[in-house]
Amino acid sequence: MLEVKNITVTFETDEGVFKAVDDVSLNINKNEIVGLVGESGCGKSVTALSILRLIPLPSGRIEKGEILFKGKDLLKLDAGEMRKIRGRAISMIFQEPASALSPLHRIGKQMVETILLHKDMTNKEAWNIAENWLKSVKIPDAGERMFDYPYQLSGGMQQRVMIAMALMLEPDLVIADEPTTALDVTIQAQVFELIREMRKSRTAVLLITHDMGVIWEMCDRVIVMYASRIVEEGSRSDIFSKPAHPYTIGLLKSIPKLSPELSGDAGRLRAIPGYVPSPYNYPSGCHFRDRCPDAFDRCKKEIPEFVDLGPGHRAACFLRTN
Ligand SMILES: Nc1ncnc2c1ncn2[C@@H]1O[C@H](COP(=O)(O)OP(=O)(O)O)[C@@H](O)[C@H]1O
Ligand code: SF4
Ligand SMILES: [Mg+2]
Repeated sequence: MLEVKNITVTFETDEGVFKAVDDVSLNINKNEIVGLVGESGCGKSVTALSILRLIPLPSGRIEKGEILFKGKDLLKLDAGEMRKIRGRAISMIFQEPASALSPLHRIGKQMVETILLHKDMTNKEAWNIAENWLKSVKIPDAGERMFDYPYQLSGGMQQRVMIAMALMLEPDLVIADEPTTALDVTIQAQVFELIREMRKSRTAVLLITHDMGVIWEMCDRVIVMYASRIVEEGSRSDIFSKPAHPYTIGLLKSIPKLSPELSGDAGRLRAIPGYVPSPYNYPSGCHFRDRCPDAFDRCKKEIPEFVDLGPGHRAACFLRTN
């Protein structure tokens, strides 16, 4: 349904030009929950924003590649055609509800206007749809909450409103960028439940997270990204039972449940020593080489190509051969 082909995204800042996303290809099929995982700064959000053509201008630029959605290249659509896709066919849930909700308008009004923008129906019909979606994301007294402004709701409630708005037009694809990072554990579990329900309809989900525990709970397929590049991709069982890239192996060690002695941020740092390098200073060759326990001479000189390790399982590391 969605096929991202060889996308490269650059940013130009006062300090120079860098690649935030380097030659990334991925696809998402109907009814699938695909996880995109990697530490902060690896290019996950920029990948997501490029799918919806929301890369901030003028500093950001999609240098090359194609984004095929149901066979059409989204990069070739004009602004009007792209607006129809956004929200209707592909919608996005952000970490921060503030980026999706207008502080100036009552929740019901925002929802109804969005529905009417995309669907031919009466105000009353749109109002009922909006209210029902608020009920289905478990907002208590949904009818009354429709008259609230976003600031009158707690962070968790705002997050649910945003999720209702992302789902109410029944999109083909929902991109959820760290949708639960700011929420407490109970609400997190409820949001996951909602995302699983979406998939029961026909909606596909691209779930972005830095947390392998979330991937374990939620995803059918996993794409691992490190320092602007995809380094491994596979089914959930490929990634958890035969991870092939040293970075994936490091991320797995950071799951508190699998390594109880490592938990929280301190544990994560211990699981993979060092930090994601600044995009201005990515090392030559393999971007992971200065943190990789297995690096050797060749890793400095050449960029590893993908090696096929089985159906749908590939990794970019010189240690792997098929
Ligand atoms: N608007 C922007 N201007 C300049 N640099 C940006 C912008 N957005 C993201 N970046 C940089 O691009 C890289 C990838 O960022 P991002 O995709 O947000 O990472 P992730 O979502 O994996 O944490 C980072 O180095 C980040 O600082
Ligand atoms: S290519 Fe080399 S540095 Fe990169 S992950 Fe593999 S062994 Fe490590
Ligand atoms: Mg991000």
